[in-house]
Amino acid sequence: MRTIKSFLAALFIMAAFSITAQSMQYEKQVESLLEQMTLEEKIGQMNQYNGFWNVTGPAPENGTAAKKYEHLRNGWVGSMLNVRGVENVRAVQKIAVEETRLGIPLIIGFDVIHGYKTQSPIPLAEAASWDLEAIHKSAAMAAKEAAAAGINWTFAPMVDISRDARWGRVMEGAGEDTYLGCEVAAARVRGFQGEDLASPHTIAACAKHYAAYGFAEAGRDYNTVDIGRSTLHNVVLPPFKAAKEAGVKTFMNAFNELNGIPATGNAYLLRDILKGDWGFEGFVVSDWGSINEMIAHGHARDTSHAAELAVEAGSDMDMESYAYVEELASLVREGVIDEILIDDAAARVLHVKYELGLFDDPYRYCDAAREKEVTGSKEIMDACLDMAKKSIVLLKNERGLLPLKKEGQKIALIGTLAADNNSPLGSWRLAADDNTAVSVLEAMKVYAGNEIRYASGAELAIGNTAFITEMEINTTDKTGFAEAVATAKEADVVVMVLGEHGFQSGEGRSRTNISLPGVQQELLETVYAANPNVVLVLNNGRPLALPWAAENIPAIVEAWQLGTQSGHAIAQVLYGDYNPSGKLPVSFPRSLGQVPIYYNHKSTGRPVSPGDKLVFWSHYIDEENSPLFPFGYGLSYTTFEYSNLQLSKNKFTGDDAIKASITLKNTGTLKGKEVVQLYLHDRFASVTRPVKELKGFQLVALEAGESTTVSFIIDKKLLQFYTAKGEWAAEPGMFGIMIGSSSEEGLMGEFELVGTKH
Ligand code: BGC
Repeated sequence: MRTIKSFLAALFIMAAFSITAQSMQYEKQVESLLEQMTLEEKIGQMNQYNGFWNVTGPAPENGTAAKKYEHLRNGWVGSMLNVRGVENVRAVQKIAVEETRLGIPLIIGFDVIHGYKTQSPIPLAEAASWDLEAIHKSAAMAAKEAAAAGINWTFAPMVDISRDARWGRVMEGAGEDTYLGCEVAAARVRGFQGEDLASPHTIAACAKHYAAYGFAEAGRDYNTVDIGRSTLHNVVLPPFKAAKEAGVKTFMNAFNELNGIPATGNAYLLRDILKGDWGFEGFVVSDWGSINEMIAHGHARDTSHAAELAVEAGSDMDMESYAYVEELASLVREGVIDEILIDDAAARVLHVKYELGLFDDPYRYCDAAREKEVTGSKEIMDACLDMAKKSIVLLKNERGLLPLKKEGQKIALIGTLAADNNSPLGSWRLAADDNTAVSVLEAMKVYAGNEIRYASGAELAIGNTAFITEMEINTTDKTGFAEAVATAKEADVVVMVLGEHGFQSGEGRSRTNISLPGVQQELLETVYAANPNVVLVLNNGRPLALPWAAENIPAIVEAWQLGTQSGHAIAQVLYGDYNPSGKLPVSFPRSLGQVPIYYNHKSTGRPVSPGDKLVFWSHYIDEENSPLFPFGYGLSYTTFEYSNLQLSKNKFTGDDAIKASITLKNTGTLKGKEVVQLYLHDRFASVTRPVKELKGFQLVALEAGESTTVSFIIDKKLLQFYTAKGEWAAEPGMFGIMIGSSSEEGLMGEFELVGTKH
């Protein structure tokens, strides 16, 4: 106990509050408020209740509405989630402000995961744009719309790295790569929070799920995580650190245990790393019910023990466990928990409320006129469309099938997803109205004068509910095949929109099969046999294994779930009004058996040697090691040529830097954009390093025929990793370098870091 006390005292002095004048002012206000608060009121700031509308987790038995209202009036609630809309937020805020003893405003949290009411593409899709400016703007627009509806805190960005396509929450993150994950995390945090958190158009962000949730065993949601030190520090934690450095105000912990200790009660993660080493000053919210779930994990004996473990570990706010509100006061009075822990947690929450301006005006997010004006505004819709176009990845384009001609082509549009107005909204679209996405069928008619005939082919979803079951989605009904075949036979080109329903990914939606759900593969093959001029447009929230399509279908467009403007974005790409430039943020496997598959794997002692006939290598006897489509891969309607890799020097000491450049030429006939990617390989290290790692990228626009020089600066910071000694350092030695168009293709060279310590 004494250790925690002295640790916290130091924490207060050294890191608790930033040194800006404004922040010092808030600190004083927080201190004086704390002095007036009873123990129960302080604990109240650590208590978060779900509202009365959306449910995003199992409802606790003791969570009746009557009880919630009673606790609100007592000043025992610091925050609510899933209360939205100015009218509803005003109603609960009014109780907190006008009916409690101290009138402390609530902080209102909501899962603004990819837009509020207007949906932008799912986060995985946004990451495929590699366009940080657009991602920043998209988050800013989502914040603006949410803030206008009374929300002042989003539970985003999710910065979990995942290498497992079975995990349904792959759709919520930026994919498999740590470097890209860091960049996207920072862009999204800055987008949500803006320059001024007190502005009525910005909201506090939340880096989640801390930590390692994306490494759930077998891709099964909420499952055990057991990973080593190197993976934790080199792969999992950096995006969280990047979010912290971008100024994120809150963190959410995770449902999983990490190496035997639930993340919610994990002092190493929360106290030692986050609040200690990184000096995080904001607050940590538990995940939904995760404090109580420590009992099911087999870590806490009962709710009281769970509350004790969580608060000691550094979880500041309890989301829907009722553990803090019911147990903490007696734990303090019995001397089990030091009140300084309560003071620290409550202070952190109050500080963020001051920063949001809630004490100046608790109703600053409750302006009904603004809500009306901002919701679904042209500015927000335009940003969503822009983001959606940028998120599309062209995977294959043979025989010049794409772009489609605008006149004189008879087009068959096949697949129930082509006409779906709901599925493109994706998972985590709680505030969106059902059926508000523009479908491909609707949009295809807007951009050209072609004759378009639609046939569903096979139903994918029966009903439209978020809790739809896999069996309902995967209907086996093939009665629509005949119409689809007849329609395809009469067409010049067949556009097939196939993939997953929007509710087949997301929380609790792990899958053991990552091929096309239901009878869609059979539909694809049947239609292809009738007319091979097929353009396959994929809708999905995770990588899919589509070896047959990759081999046979001439054109494939990865269109994820692109949100409200989905159909427009897809139609503009299909007709060539927009030249795609997205690149995959995840590897697409050839088969499920390869999962987890990721480009930045280790070499092993027996790496595959091409052409070797023996079996004693790290490989499969029935499948290649390589992915179907690699990380970083994506085509354009134009072509790019990489040449002339130049390094300013081949050796450097770490006090200086190397400039690496290439010439990029647009060798096609259209203007286009290319994501130029830098990969490095630390050949020998105290802890083995991946065969390559993304360490930089640039989005370059070039006119047809134009060329330019693209340069990257390589300094020692870029070479650092968590070494065998447990420090961030660059170790001297040889490094491989590759600059290219994907993780599998590029110009290669090498350089040496000389000296001893970096
Ligand atoms: C999810 C979180 C989410 C929370 C609140 C949980 O089930 O894991 O990501 O923010 O619910 O809706």
